[in-house]
Amino acid sequence: MYTLNINLPDKSYPIIIEKDLFNSIDTFLSQYIKGNKVVVLTDENLSNIYGKKLQNKLNNLNSEVYYIVLKAGEETKSLSVLEKVYSELLSFGITKSDYLIAFGGGVIGDLTGFAAATYLRGIPFIQVPTSLLAQVDSSIGGKTAVNLPQGKNLIGSFYHPEAVFIDPQMLSTLHPRYLADGMAEVIKYGCIKDTELFEILENIDITDLMQHMEKIVYKCCNIKKSIVEEDEKDDGSRMLLNFGHTFGHAIEKIFCYEKYTHGEGVAIGMHHITKKSEEMGLTEINTSERIKGLLGKYNLPVSFPHIDEKSLLDAVAPDKKSRGRMLNLILLKKIGSGFIHTIDKNDTINYI
Ligand SMILES: NC(=O)c1ccc[n+]([C@@H]2O[C@H](COP(=O)([O-])OP(=O)(O)OC[C@H]3O[C@@H](n4cnc5c(N)ncnc54)[C@H](O)[C@@H]3O)[C@@H](O)[C@H]2O)c1
Repeated sequence: MYTLNINLPDKSYPIIIEKDLFNSIDTFLSQYIKGNKVVVLTDENLSNIYGKKLQNKLNNLNSEVYYIVLKAGEETKSLSVLEKVYSELLSFGITKSDYLIAFGGGVIGDLTGFAAATYLRGIPFIQVPTSLLAQVDSSIGGKTAVNLPQGKNLIGSFYHPEAVFIDPQMLSTLHPRYLADGMAEVIKYGCIKDTELFEILENIDITDLMQHMEKIVYKCCNIKKSIVEEDEKDDGSRMLLNFGHTFGHAIEKIFCYEKYTHGEGVAIGMHHITKKSEEMGLTEINTSERIKGLLGKYNLPVSFPHIDEKSLLDAVAPDKKSRGRMLNLILLKKIGSGFIHTIDKNDTINYI
């Protein structure tokens, strides 16, 4: 078992990572939930796999527990679903001393977090992330959001959970494509901050991946913790987490979020930007080849799709890392050492 504490000026909370933690989820939750009402938000896939066992466990809490089971998928992170969630919370009589639990991937986590942040101007919530992406990234750091038809995560807030309970064993039921998706973020952490993590990923036998997962998830959460503690509101070093994301997001968007998953876009973006920065002498030689090898090992693509220059530049333009005329690109000096490289937006073409 690994325990981390996120320490921020206005909030501290623990992250507990333990294989098979789900078997005693009631014990972990009972440290927080003492007679309050609880609403668990989850999606249909998770409810089918874990719903019965979850109900049995939560029956042990001395609390009224309600369940909101939503459709799986990104469409659930919408204002219309959020409105239905608020209505249900009202009908259950949820007050400020009650709890929401996000039991799911990043979609459920982001939606539940935003509902918790805004319902009655804020009620406590707990994250039980179940996808790899949610365990290593979205459940930590307080970013909550819903999408608008015009774009992803356009409505949101910074709002932290009371605790994050992670069971890496739950990843054994995750679809391989979502596992690969999360592995792109894991590889990203190795690239920007942790040579040892990168080397572990290079050296392990992929058939033993699940055996190493507790440590891998811990290492990623630890990196995210230190970055979030340094730059909670994403004005400085937190931007490092966007390594591979500038072109990754652009590729996802150009293909209408259908052809490439987020992780696949990020994988292509990480390799591409590193190849370019290597050519410019900003990155140690052979770094992009090592990244390519690792991405391939975990079933992630690297070849840049054919896109005309103008569409790509247009898709990069509104990137979150842009500030006025300037664009912050995340590059590597070498494996394990990311840095922010600020360029004039007009020079973006040199990185294509
Ligand atoms: N808040 C943040 O800091 C942050 C960071 C990165 C991404 N995100 C957001 O996260 C979302 C993507 O998250 P995601 O990839 O987890 O997507 P997701 O929540 O849609 O989960 C992916 C799929 O896996 C299924 N699933 C989850 N856990 C499972 C398990 N243990 N067993 C079987 N199936 C399981 C889900 O039902 C879903 O079908 C996006 O909306 C993105 O914007 C947020």
